[in-house]
Amino acid sequence: MTVMLDPEIANIGKTSFIHEPRGGDPGKLTLTKAQGTYVWDDKGRKYLDFTSQAWSNNLGANDPRVIEAAIAQTRELTHARPNFNTPALLELTALLRSITPGDLNRIGYCLHGSSAVEMAMKLAFRNRPDAKHILVLQDAYHGRSITTMAASWPHPKNPFSAISPTFHRVPHPDEYRPRMGMSIEQEVELCLSLMEDTITRGVDGGVAAIMVEPIMGNGGHIVHPKSYHQGLRDICDRHGILLIWDEIQSGFGRTGAMFAADHYGIQPDIMTFGKGVGGGFPLAGIFASDKLDEFQGGEDQLTFGHFPISMAAAVACVKAIIADDLCTNARRLGDFATQRLGEMSERRKLIGHIRGPGLFVSCELVKDRVTKEPAMRAASEVYRRGIGKGVIFGESRYLGLGNLIKVKPPLDCSIEDMSTALDVFDTILGELEAEGIA
Ligand SMILES: Cc1ncc(COP(=O)(O)O)c(C=O)c1O
Repeated sequence: MTVMLDPEIANIGKTSFIHEPRGGDPGKLTLTKAQGTYVWDDKGRKYLDFTSQAWSNNLGANDPRVIEAAIAQTRELTHARPNFNTPALLELTALLRSITPGDLNRIGYCLHGSSAVEMAMKLAFRNRPDAKHILVLQDAYHGRSITTMAASWPHPKNPFSAISPTFHRVPHPDEYRPRMGMSIEQEVELCLSLMEDTITRGVDGGVAAIMVEPIMGNGGHIVHPKSYHQGLRDICDRHGILLIWDEIQSGFGRTGAMFAADHYGIQPDIMTFGKGVGGGFPLAGIFASDKLDEFQGGEDQLTFGHFPISMAAAVACVKAIIADDLCTNARRLGDFATQRLGEMSERRKLIGHIRGPGLFVSCELVKDRVTKEPAMRAASEVYRRGIGKGVIFGESRYLGLGNLIKVKPPLDCSIEDMSTALDVFDTILGELEAEGIA
């Protein structure tokens, strides 16, 4: 669908957006329509969206079941203060309780992942009121509010640090880039012991929680072995500390299980969710253990903390993820993708490492497989040329980890569309090799 935009409107981004340099982002597309794995721009061009937007359309874009539910809810009631119940709130809560792991039966809602992470940290302090700290991992990403930014990787020149809280960032194991040539088992042992040292000797005042992404997303798609997560669970139990898993990116089928917690068979005390839950509508929140005390009074009240349209959309979305068995599809398609990438890596030396699980797929591009020097220019060329060839790949841009290409379409993507996108990736890698770009 070509949309004729008034030229003045079409160019307004060059001077208006506070999130962009003056002059605008020259590569920025204006999207006009989305359906399933596809998006269209204002020139009528169609793209395969292998980012699911913000890794958030786990169910393909504009699924009719979600759209109909949102429209029906919009006709009845759009806004309700958290002091009231609505059928959408109650139905969603019952549905989510039926799929959460273990005793994570208490639910809190908000609209953004960053707010959900803040809610999780507040609940940890509400339950450990004498503690002073939350420990996080180096390379973590937990959001972009002032607090969650401080809990994420060190921003090169964080201009907001004047009012940022202090978080202790603890090292974590990385199978692809191990310290001093250690095996992954040695790295796990070292990092667990550093975590325990930090708790006992590294901070003044107690630790309320350890907060981790079970599979690190924006910090480089780092997958930790089960032994590491089990070790963190054991440390928390030994020291009476709460374990928070930030599942905002890994939840709702992305890893091939409903939650990464199911994948690992480990239960945190608090789990955040967001992104894929709302079928494209904004929704996030936390699941908390029955053992925890709830907030008191207005400790965590937000105007749109109860947003019936998103909740009705989420009921339809989660039911569709279950009915269409998208966890199985994510595993099947993810296995297909990692296998194809593996075959490609025999010919394409730029591919340094391929990661999963499910449709949490990515590969690191490197200049040299021995030194593992990141091929950042190659990665940004894959992104740029991909758009030219009709595929939007994910690219990691932060923290000097800009060499990761992410293959994260909606979970209901077809094998044919996956094949097409991987063929385009293969072609681009061939072009880059021929041109000597790394
Ligand atoms: C693991 C994780 N936590 C928190 C967030 C922040 O979510 P939001 O952008 O909705 O605030 C993100 C977003 O990418 C995320 O991946």
